[in-house]
Amino acid sequence: MAEENKTNPSETEREISRRSFFTKVGLGSLGIASAGTLAFAYQFLSPNVLYEASPIVNVGNAESYEVNSVTLHVKSAVYTVRLPEGFFSLSAICTHLGCMTAWKPDLGIIACPCHGSHFSREGKKLAGPAPKPLPWLKTWLSDDGDLMVDRSTTIHPLQFLRI
Ligand code: FES
Repeated sequence: MAEENKTNPSETEREISRRSFFTKVGLGSLGIASAGTLAFAYQFLSPNVLYEASPIVNVGNAESYEVNSVTLHVKSAVYTVRLPEGFFSLSAICTHLGCMTAWKPDLGIIACPCHGSHFSREGKKLAGPAPKPLPWLKTWLSDDGDLMVDRSTTIHPLQFLRI
């Protein structure tokens, strides 16, 4: 009888083993569900903030620009223009559908490659579907002699920065 117990576990031992198995499965499932809930709660409670680049950019030392020059800063999508009257900054984003424009020194115009709008170096619309001129952007000189541009603030045209 004792030998029979070693090879064939009794009904009670089988029951305990089954109970133990289901307990472990239950605890495991509970653990996975809790981890998922905690992960979801953490994501829900974390601030959902979109960090954007500052609208204010430094476009370099004013003395580095030659008179009668138009310089495109591709990363910040801004033109720095230096004329005998002074400096100004233009947005390089086309006012039609937002393409990046390009300065054409041989033609003396700013051109949009998307639908053919043309602008003067002062931003005035010359041709194409663009509904408005390129906006002038607030520009000032830092204490270090660098030109600073606020891409979020437009100004009336012909307000040159005189140094
Ligand atoms: S986006 Fe410049 S002309 Fe259309």
